Amino acid sequence: MSKVEKPTTDLKSLCRQHLEQLSGFGVTIAPSGTGQTFDLPQVESVPDSMVRETAAPSGNATAKKYDSEKPAESSKQSTAAPKGSARQQESIARIGSTEPYPAASSRPRQADLKVINDEVASCTKCSVLAGARNCTVFGVGNPQARLVLIGEAPGEQEDKTGEPFVGAAGQLLDKMLAACGLNRQEHVYILNAVKCRPPQNRNPKPDELENCWGYAQRQLEFIQPEFICCLGSVAARTVLQTTQSVGRLRKQFHRYRDSKVIVTYHPSYLLRTTSAKKHAWEDMKLLMREMGIDIPKRN
Ligand code: URA
Repeated sequence: MSKVEKPTTDLKSLCRQHLEQLSGFGVTIAPSGTGQTFDLPQVESVPDSMVRETAAPSGNATAKKYDSEKPAESSKQSTAAPKGSARQQESIARIGSTEPYPAASSRPRQADLKVINDEVASCTKCSVLAGARNCTVFGVGNPQARLVLIGEAPGEQEDKTGEPFVGAAGQLLDKMLAACGLNRQEHVYILNAVKCRPPQNRNPKPDELENCWGYAQRQLEFIQPEFICCLGSVAARTVLQTTQSVGRLRKQFHRYRDSKVIVTYHPSYLLRTTSAKKHAWEDMKLLMREMGIDIPKRN
């Protein structure tokens, strides 16, 4: 006679593990007087599978500020759930360009990023932004990474240092990555849609995005990441050429050329709207699962 196992113990430990992971990501389940905590998890193993070849960290500094996660005006693009299993749904590209990346050539990778960076550093297409900047903020991380994270534009700290996501939002982003066992230097590449800080950290204007997005497109063409994570509505709308909101775009994979694209909330939005952190954590878990990356257990 087959024995029916009591699921209690497993369920308990699964729940405990889930709660621990959420708390490591800064999600507090019970109200606490001190608010959110963002303790870094103990990471036991470095996920080598985040990079495609021997890691050769490069990148140059920096960047930014932030964001609007406001619901977008409705779009004609369908958001109806696709048919099929949950796993199939995750893998279905919903919207976005399907134009393939060009075949990787034998060009020296660092050299090409440097060429783009040099162009960015001397760019004056947006006279207001170029006139006010301390420095341009190109990107940071490993150009061999399978995952590229895309933000909006540099903020004050990024404009001073030349590295993306080094202010408060960047610290949260680092903790989100650490909760997945990742760090910005080795496992991902981080760039912004716009390379100069907009005054008072306002959202980039459409003409600024138009002027600058070509640089990011060239970075992506060079890196050819398997996965792209859009942080916030500006990145999502620019990459996917849509007007849909983050709320409607998240929880599924879209496409940008050969890259699978996931959309989540901008870390600056998460700093202001802590109730959204649990959703961002769900997005990160979905992304890691699709990438085949195990999220490290907390000690
Ligand atoms: N927000 C962004 O979108 N980019 C940065 O580099 C910093 C904050």
